[in-house]
Amino acid sequence: MTMTLHIDPTHLLRPDFIWGVATSAFQIEGAADEDGKGESIWDVFCRQPGAIADGSDGRIACDHVHRLDEDLDLIASLGVDAYRFSISWPRVQPQGWGPWSEEGLGFYERLVDGLLARGIRPFATLNHWDLPQVLQTQGGWMARDTAHRFVDYARGIQRCLGDRLASIATHNEPWVIAILGHEKGIFAPGLTSRAAAAQVNHHLLLSHGLALQALRADGASAPLGIVLNMSPQEPATDSPADRALARLQDGHGLRWYLDPLLRGRYPDDAWTDLGRDAPRMEATDLAAIAQPLDWLGINYYTRNVVSSAGPWDPVAHGLPVTDMGWEICPDSFHALLTRLHRDYALPPTFITENGGAFPDPVQADGLVHDQDRIDYLRTHIAAVVRAAQEGVPLAGYFVWSLMDNFEWASGYAKRFGIVHVDYATLARTPKASARAYRDALTRWRVGARA
Ligand code: FCB
Repeated sequence: MTMTLHIDPTHLLRPDFIWGVATSAFQIEGAADEDGKGESIWDVFCRQPGAIADGSDGRIACDHVHRLDEDLDLIASLGVDAYRFSISWPRVQPQGWGPWSEEGLGFYERLVDGLLARGIRPFATLNHWDLPQVLQTQGGWMARDTAHRFVDYARGIQRCLGDRLASIATHNEPWVIAILGHEKGIFAPGLTSRAAAAQVNHHLLLSHGLALQALRADGASAPLGIVLNMSPQEPATDSPADRALARLQDGHGLRWYLDPLLRGRYPDDAWTDLGRDAPRMEATDLAAIAQPLDWLGINYYTRNVVSSAGPWDPVAHGLPVTDMGWEICPDSFHALLTRLHRDYALPPTFITENGGAFPDPVQADGLVHDQDRIDYLRTHIAAVVRAAQEGVPLAGYFVWSLMDNFEWASGYAKRFGIVHVDYATLARTPKASARAYRDALTRWRVGARA
């Protein structure tokens, strides 16, 4: 028996709560070098032998650029209020500065107009990791100048689309860009330097603040925010060593972003821990970073259990995990949200990503009965409702993802979609979770209006 997805009790969410689905440009668009699109650092990284688990790349991905109308109808069929997507910087400004691509901008105009025509609010992210390769050759996010290039790019997008967007995020998950891309080397651009990662983190935050200042000076109408990945760092045991390590990782992973954004300073513990690798900055940078946020986006997938004895494996502890090996832990989601609001007094907050990868075999009837994903979504949405009940100013929730797509270094092997994509034919087939989500939203709207 398939359990449905309940959103209950409905009256605990604001009646204008926004339900959506999310994607990002590189993961779905394809059309990698059409119409003068420039290369991104992910186009280049995918060519590095061994970088992507299945040796794949984003050249075709879900072929979204060529299937825009079909995908717009697909989004509309889910009954969502909003669609979160990202703009590929090298598609609209191939060199990362200077000339704009009319074709590239035209694609996003068609996307945004198509959403509005279907009554769906466009939530745009300016940087979901696919930096123009030309800028990488000039130092990428390690170079302070890239922050200024980003401001020009943000202003250009606002000029073209600003009055039609319901929301603009500067960056998606700066931690991933800095740490996975520049310290651990497992994401583009594949560098392995802690000092580089720290400088990248600072320049991402700086560019965010400078962009907010510039967009507001230009008369921004869309609410402006930033999207952070947040995993609570929980000590494996009560030992002083585990607790101290978890606290330090909280400094590097959560407070490193929220303290400068919301309090205008970096956390002392993580700063001291960086030692000689701490970023270089100018006197006015922290004030520039701490621009008022119209909203904050939080992406949550799992918690991180911290042990001073080394890596901690949830499977070895008999705990449930998704196909990514990430522990399924909705209680930590609730705890994270309430803790963040207690510590920071959050601005209106969107869950900009939440979801799970599961093997998703296509059954004999041609459908995907992804009960595990329905359970994941149900328990995590329940955590959101509980946090809202306790006063966390939650304004919306987006499922990651609309459809199966290119999961970065994991390639196409990991499926996060509520819509199945057959990569041989590129056919899209809604999974059981897509129907469950749509039905839950329909029931919620009835309840919320009652
Ligand atoms: C997040 C990314 C998103 C997707 C999910 C699974 O870190 O923002 O693009 O890959 O993880």
